[in-house]
Amino acid sequence: MIPNDHPEPLKKVRSGGKFIGNIVVPGDKSISHRALIFGAIADGETIIQGILPAEDPISTAKCLRLMGAEISPIDSNQIISVKGVGLDGLKEPEEILDCGNSGTTMRLLLGLLVGCKNRHFILTGDESLKKRPMKRVGKPLSLMGGKVNGRASGNFAPLSVYGQQLHGAVIGTPVASAQVKSAILLAALTADGTTKVIEPSSSRDHSERMLKAFGADIEISGEFGRHICITPGARLTGQKVVVPGDISSASFWIIAAAITPGSDITIQNVGLNPTRTGIIEVINQMGVSYELINVRTIAGEPVGDIHVTYNSKLKAFKIDGDVMPKLVDEVPILTLAACFCDGVSHINDASELRIKETDRLKVITRQLKKMGANIIENQDGLTIQGIEKLTAAELDSETDHRIAMTLAIASVVAKGESTIARSNAAAVSYPTFWDDLERLRQ
Ligand code: S3P
Repeated sequence: MIPNDHPEPLKKVRSGGKFIGNIVVPGDKSISHRALIFGAIADGETIIQGILPAEDPISTAKCLRLMGAEISPIDSNQIISVKGVGLDGLKEPEEILDCGNSGTTMRLLLGLLVGCKNRHFILTGDESLKKRPMKRVGKPLSLMGGKVNGRASGNFAPLSVYGQQLHGAVIGTPVASAQVKSAILLAALTADGTTKVIEPSSSRDHSERMLKAFGADIEISGEFGRHICITPGARLTGQKVVVPGDISSASFWIIAAAITPGSDITIQNVGLNPTRTGIIEVINQMGVSYELINVRTIAGEPVGDIHVTYNSKLKAFKIDGDVMPKLVDEVPILTLAACFCDGVSHINDASELRIKETDRLKVITRQLKKMGANIIENQDGLTIQGIEKLTAAELDSETDHRIAMTLAIASVVAKGESTIARSNAAAVSYPTFWDDLERLRQ
């Protein structure tokens, strides 16, 4: 069962209090998806410790079970077993593969399934996912011989895939997207020659790290590891995967403590993979009072604790260029942070935000403006003028989990009592978010 104690989607959030104490955030969403997928196509058993028990990874697990992988229930126990079917062992499912709200599930599965020869798969998702572009994956996969069909020339789900013998290829991706890169790497595992992916700048590298650990023949070269080569032939072998806490979930508490007077919190066991720590670069610019403690490596991923205290003198920041892929999911909460900085903050090169679970540039602007925020929405980013305070409002997550959690923190620091419609969206990536909010707020 997903721990969701808050079926009532319209939530009242009282303001005031400070954030105090220790928190362990749930497992990393990106690593959880990958551990399930690589475990499912490995030989033998994979044990996943600390898997994220949230709706998105549960969607991935459900799809993989329909294709023959045995995966134990994902509950609050968080240690699960995946019995793999081997590289070419996935069976044609009798049902449609429902990816729910999860772009990562759909895009990575497309990469996995295009090479499952002579088997047919249909994939769909919820209202949000059916609007998200899938051609960004279908197009590079077609260069390897993959066949993905669907509405708008294969851009929108429902999608159908008929598995083919794929060919190795050299593919330059136009955007730094780990979902696109990972789909190509998955397809490359069963191609008939070497495949090379070249990214314009580095996106999160969890797939590369995990493929190496599972035994794939993978080579990483080029500046910042932007060239990734896979040579097929090696089998994958089940592993023990330890999933660190998700830095994207931790970011809500980092910013909550930084902007709420009197706060002092420590977020333990947070993944600090350098392709994910763009937020640390931004809090350095802001002058947030924090320290990284107990930094160590666990199962191939850097992990540490983050101690943050309130600082009344935060400075405006600028985000652009290569740092964007390293904090792409943190833009909503950083927009809130910018409201409490002295000066004008600029978030540029953020057009990818428009094709997330919602158009996050538009939605965060619309919602925070209700509270009095001074934000200008540009074509590929935001300009945010710091202000003294926000005031309570009737807010709406618009079904987006990261917007729901950003608005929750905004409501605590605002003056008065806010309401947040569709607050249950948080369960997509952080099922215990609302309980943690009440526990940390004093
Ligand atoms: C993810 C990659 C990012 C991110 C998403 C998870 C992943 O998307 O926004 O939440 O696990 O690969 P893009 O790869 O499209 O930037």
